Amino acid sequence: MKKILITGGAGFIGSHVVRHFVKKYPHYTIFNLDKLTYAGNLVNLADVESAENYRFIKADINDAALMQQLFADHGFDAVIHLAAESHVDRSIASPNEFVFTNIVGTVNLLNAARHSWQGRFDGKLFYHVSTDEVYGSLGEEGMFTEETAYDPRSPYSASKASSDHLVRAYFHTFGLPVMISNCSNNYGPNQFPEKLIPLFINNIRHNKPLPVYGKGENVRDWLYVIDHAVAIDTIFHSGRIGETFNIGGHNEWKNIDLIKLMCSILDRKLGRDPGTSARLITYVKDRAGHDLRYAIDSSKLQRELGWVPSLQFEEGIELTINWYLENQAWLDSVTSGAYQQYYEAMYLGR
Ligand code: NAD
Ligand code: DAU
Repeated sequence: MKKILITGGAGFIGSHVVRHFVKKYPHYTIFNLDKLTYAGNLVNLADVESAENYRFIKADINDAALMQQLFADHGFDAVIHLAAESHVDRSIASPNEFVFTNIVGTVNLLNAARHSWQGRFDGKLFYHVSTDEVYGSLGEEGMFTEETAYDPRSPYSASKASSDHLVRAYFHTFGLPVMISNCSNNYGPNQFPEKLIPLFINNIRHNKPLPVYGKGENVRDWLYVIDHAVAIDTIFHSGRIGETFNIGGHNEWKNIDLIKLMCSILDRKLGRDPGTSARLITYVKDRAGHDLRYAIDSSKLQRELGWVPSLQFEEGIELTINWYLENQAWLDSVTSGAYQQYYEAMYLGR
């Protein structure tokens, strides 16, 4: 009977990970710890909130004493750590929150696990969920492997790189049983509409401009979020302690090509004439320090643990667009209030 602490479980990826574990492992108790920042939303988990093996804890990982207390109270066997500030643009506007949550918050959890487990590490695991952005930016060629040197360029990626280093340091220095995975860009249901895909779906739907940074030539490697959740499950159960695994979809898209694809799918679904939504494309000032290209080599994970993405992108993007069209109430609820202020400051210079 494992007790698993999942941090950030009310967010985009975390909610899919929580649902996956709650449903697939009824003999585990899943504790979802989340501060419920602007990005956290318990509605994402409405279908599992009354499951017998699910508990929610509203807490801030920056509260070191509370993290120690929670480990003492509940005796967690394992941690899957996703809680983070996750949006690059926000990290450029206000880096400090990223340092607190992503670095200090991670150390607080590492300390709490270490003190709770007291060197009795059998059956224990601290699984840290990280990003491909720690590796920096690629040119036209090549892919990130687990051996690629870290070269983070935004406050977000620097804070995630720092947290990865600390997790590895606790493995080497204290013997804490850890694993890390570094994943490429996720897409799918429940992503907060500050990120490219849900932001643009929402704007197309409302006939609002589509703010393409620079020339739209940056490349991202997109993975369906449920494939990420399955990869985490696979690594959690079958990976070796101390190892790192890259997770990616082998699915690179230039931003402008992806945006035009979304426009044409939405023209079809909304009954608009072909080309209507693409007229909303507006080229705006580039993101500062904008990484040109990410591409993940996930062959280690495929070779050693047999994980492969289950969905083709064409299928995943259709499913994703359908979800946002069918869940306009979710979009409306998360874009009210503070989101409007963010949007106006970010895109309208107010
Ligand atoms: P998200 O912003 O949607 O969700 C983050 C969650 O963490 C929210 O529920 C939020 O309330 C919670 N949180 C934030 N600060 C907290 C704090 N101080 N204490 C407790 N909870 C807090 O993020 P996401 O896109 O789901 O990303 C989840 C993790 O996966 C992050 O660690 C991110 O770096 C990593 N990741 C994301 C992607 C991606 O494409 N989105 C890709 C690779 C890795
Ligand atoms: O690679 C993994 C990372 O992917 C995760 O670690 C991050 O948490 C996640 O946010 C994501 O980072 P990106 O910066 O790649 O994602 P975002 O959706 O913000 O942007 C995707 C691309 O689209 C990027 O090249 C910037 C561009 N973009 C984004 C926005 C929000 C635009 O052109 N216009 C926009 O308005």
